[in-house]
Formats: sequence, C-alpha cells, structure tokens
Amino acid sequence: KKSVRDLDLKGKKVFCRVDFNVPMQDGVITDDTRIKAALPTIKYIVEQGGKAILASHLGRPKGKVVEELRLNPVAKRLSELLGKEVTKVDEATGDVVKSKIAEMQDGDVLLLENVRFYPGEEKNDPELAKAFAELADVYVNDAFGAAHRAHASTEGIAKYLPAVAGFLMQKEIETLGKALNNPERPFTAIIGGAKVKDKIGVIENLLDRVDNLIIGGGLAYTFIKSQGYEIGNSLLEEDKIELAKEFIEKAKAKGVRFLMPIDAVVADRFAENANTKIVDISEIPADWEALDIGPKTVELYEEVIKDSKLVIWNGPMGVFEMDKFANGTNGIAKAMADTDAITIIGGGDSAAAIEKAGLADKMSHISTGGGASLEFIEGKDLPGVVALNDKE
Ligand code: 3PG
Repeated sequence: KKSVRDLDLKGKKVFCRVDFNVPMQDGVITDDTRIKAALPTIKYIVEQGGKAILASHLGRPKGKVVEELRLNPVAKRLSELLGKEVTKVDEATGDVVKSKIAEMQDGDVLLLENVRFYPGEEKNDPELAKAFAELADVYVNDAFGAAHRAHASTEGIAKYLPAVAGFLMQKEIETLGKALNNPERPFTAIIGGAKVKDKIGVIENLLDRVDNLIIGGGLAYTFIKSQGYEIGNSLLEEDKIELAKEFIEKAKAKGVRFLMPIDAVVADRFAENANTKIVDISEIPADWEALDIGPKTVELYEEVIKDSKLVIWNGPMGVFEMDKFANGTNGIAKAMADTDAITIIGGGDSAAAIEKAGLADKMSHISTGGGASLEFIEGKDLPGVVALNDKE
C-alpha cells in the first residue's frame, strides 16, 4: 500500500483527512490524543514543503452548521502542538477556501471547517467529493477513526486524486492487521462492554484466531445466563441467549479457552452510592445487579494475560465511570501494563479507561478508532482504506 512517503510533496497542495473528532466540554478539548496522533503526517507534509490542507469532522451536526461544532478550538490546539501557525477557514469548499489556499506558502497549514456541516459529506455526494478534490493535488487519508465511514472526505474524494495513507492510518492497519492475521501466541482477546449485540461480529471473527477469549462487562451476563445461572437484575439480552450458548460451544469445538466471570460486584441499584457486595457468579441475588467483575475473576484474567504473548482488549469490564465499579477494568489495565506481551487497545471506552488509569504509555498500541477498530477486528473492509488501493 502506498503511503505519504511515496509522494513528492514539494509545492503540492495536500488534502489530508484527519480524525479530529475529539471530546469537548464547553468549547474546551478534554482529550487531544487524536490531534497528537496525526502530528507525524502533518509534520512530514510541512517538512517536505507541501501545503497541508486539513479536513475533519467533529460530532454529528447532520449536514448543518452547528456553532459549537466548529473546528476553531482544534485549530488552536493543533497550532500549539505544531509550534506553528494554523490558518482556520470557516468553510470547507468554495471561493473563500480557494483564495486562502492560493495564498499558502510551501509548508503552511490550513484547517478547513467541519466537513459534516455539508449534507453531501455523509451521503458521499460525488459533487462534494469533487469540490474537495479540486482544492488539492493529492489526497492523504490519516483518519483511521473515520475509515469505516464511506463519506465524501474519506472515500469519495479518493476517486479524483492520487490517494495514499498517512502514517497513523498505516500504523493502525499494520498493527491491528498483524495481530489478527499473524499473531504471537498465546493470543488472548478481552471483550467487554454493555451489549452482546455490538460485539457479535467481533467475537465471531476472534473465535477463529485466538487461544483465549475473555469476556466481561454487561454483555457477560447473557453468557452466564445461557449456562443456566440466575443473574438477578444484571443486563440481559433475552434474544441473544441462544447465540451466547453457541459461541461457548463453538469455542470448545475450536479449542479456544472461553473465560467468563466467576464472581461479581453486585449492587442493589444502578448508582454510585448503591449498597454493594461481592458474590460468586452462582449467587447473584434476585433483586441485585452485577456492575463489575469480582476480585477472583480479576485474578484469573491476570493469570491468562500473564501467560499470553499478545493481548487485545476492547470494552470495559464494568461500569468504570463509577469508582465503585472500576476495579475490574483497572485490574485488567494494570495486568496489561505489567505484562511483556504485545498489548493492543481497541479505542473508545477501553482507551478512555487506560488513560484514566494513567497507563497509556505502557501499552504497545492504543487505537485511535472506536467504531473503526471494532469493524477492523470484525474482519470488515474499511471503505476509507479500500479507496486508497486503486490509486498509484
Ligand atoms: C469516532 O469518533 O469513532 C469517529 O470519529 C467516527 O465518528 P462517527 O461515529 O460520528 O462517524
């Protein structure tokens, strides 16, 4: 696959799609990981004497201008991180943008407005894709986090320009791809989160690849129920019980060790100040709900992590936003920080948990993609990546 390194960028206008969809509160960026992750590509374009025209979405404005979702705070933060002026324009296409680009010197950086202010972005409207393409000489996609979306700035534009991957895109695909297709063994996957429904494809694909499959989080209780246990008021997806059972049988047939919680932290209601206790998995009281894995489970999972050469983790083990139910998730985070194994964190909540625990720099790779890394782990083709293949 071609990368930004394969292009001569000197004097070229480079349309670079990044994923600057960062969390914000009252106009302040609360986590700039995604901006930092795009710096190597942006710096490279600058150093090579290209003109970096950056584009991103922010939030879900649904084709309309939403003042709070303008990219101005992102431009400011990017400028600080680059140590360089970043010009921000209030549109993403049109004459104002074109004249700003015409004024750019080699090595300048321009940030376009939120591409999702345009209805054509999410519709992947060819007219908008062409309008983006007209702004530049080449296209670089470094937005791994948005690569599962076939939108005008992630997929459509690649039809009209030489299109290559940026360094972040390349790193994400190589790291996740190698883990899935050529894994070090024993290979352990830890899947958590609230719903079985969201992880069906992931579990299915992983069952063909891993040695150990560990589950936790809300989704675990449908599995536990499928084995005949009572789970009280814990999360249950009635219509997924059969599937859960099948997954467990499939694991057995394939020689995959399937690990479920053996104890849990249960609460008498869903609240930080609920009454809680630790019980064995066969003893969840009728009116209580399990909100975290218990200490024996953490210990069991730690052992498996310790004996692995590669561990992939996606989805928290409990309601980690509440301190009382964060021990399971933190325990797994610590075990991953302490192991010599290659450790890969699928983005989203598990990445946030690792950040919160201050263990981010102990992991081999933390994906910047939430939905994108999930779809990748499911084995799906990502449109934003596929689009790069057919261009030299
Ligand atoms: C993400 O945050 O996962 C990406 O930026 C994609 O955002 P989206 O789910 O709104 O398409």
